[in-house]
Amino acid sequence: MTADEPAALRDLALDVAREAAALVRERRVGGATVADTKSSSVDVVTEADRASEDLIRRRLLEARPDDSVVGEEGDDHSGPSGVRWVIDPIDGTVNYVYGLPEYAVSIGAEVAGATVAAVVLNAATGTEYVAARGLGSTRDGVALRVRPSPPLAQRLVLTGFGYRTDVRAGQAARVARLLPRVRDIRRMGSCALDLCHVAEGSADGYVEEGPNAWDWSAGSLVATEAGARFGLLPGGLAAELGETGRKVVIAAPADGWDDFVALLEECGFVGRNPPSEVE
Ligand code: IPD
Ligand code: CA
Ligand code: CA
Repeated sequence: MTADEPAALRDLALDVAREAAALVRERRVGGATVADTKSSSVDVVTEADRASEDLIRRRLLEARPDDSVVGEEGDDHSGPSGVRWVIDPIDGTVNYVYGLPEYAVSIGAEVAGATVAAVVLNAATGTEYVAARGLGSTRDGVALRVRPSPPLAQRLVLTGFGYRTDVRAGQAARVARLLPRVRDIRRMGSCALDLCHVAEGSADGYVEEGPNAWDWSAGSLVATEAGARFGLLPGGLAAELGETGRKVVIAAPADGWDDFVALLEECGFVGRNPPSEVE
């Protein structure tokens, strides 16, 4: 990868995300219609999710036909270039359906498994979170920085829930242990935007077990380039459910990482295996 490639990938992702966000906004006029359900009756997909992903894939592969692409709503596409795009065409689909202005187009570009360029574009508000590895992250062109971490008892923590009822019951039990130990909890509804909120200093941390790469790929770079640490650790719930492969996704300002992770271990979010931080 040449030194200027992250910036070029970021600029392409931003052009494509702007086009997809316009489509997503346009399709919501008059209300979003649910096209199908996936893992459970509350895991919905709209026509706009599919149209947005089709558009993003088409535009990226027109510009860079040798790249690989993985997205939430389509089949994996494999190419020889070494660059893999990771797409969530709408992150926060339930908010989209209800008209809550917290849903985003998320596009990350990975090289050798690490995100090197990222765009998370809130399609409702137009706010653009953008990052390139080593070049920092911005919101609408202004550089982002995490907030200094207060003591744990004064931290505002973002979290999320999956769509399976057994998973949700386990997640709720962990949140019940965490809530009395921190300032408060927010469940905003978009993992990608949650990571951007940590980056911009509007939250002190994020934790959720089970999000997929398309949920966190772009947002993880926006967060780390703003001074956060990001990790995929063994999930406590995975151990309880006897499932391998589920990870707990954690982000926090670097100065608040160690005690946050220790607290999450006490509350059962993190499993007993030694943590394997990826960023
Ligand atoms: C969901 C959102 C949500 C998180 C879920 C994700 P979707 O993605 O990111 O905040 O809690 O785990 O599945 O379904 O809206 O693309
Ligand atoms: Ca998602
Ligand atoms: Ca989605």
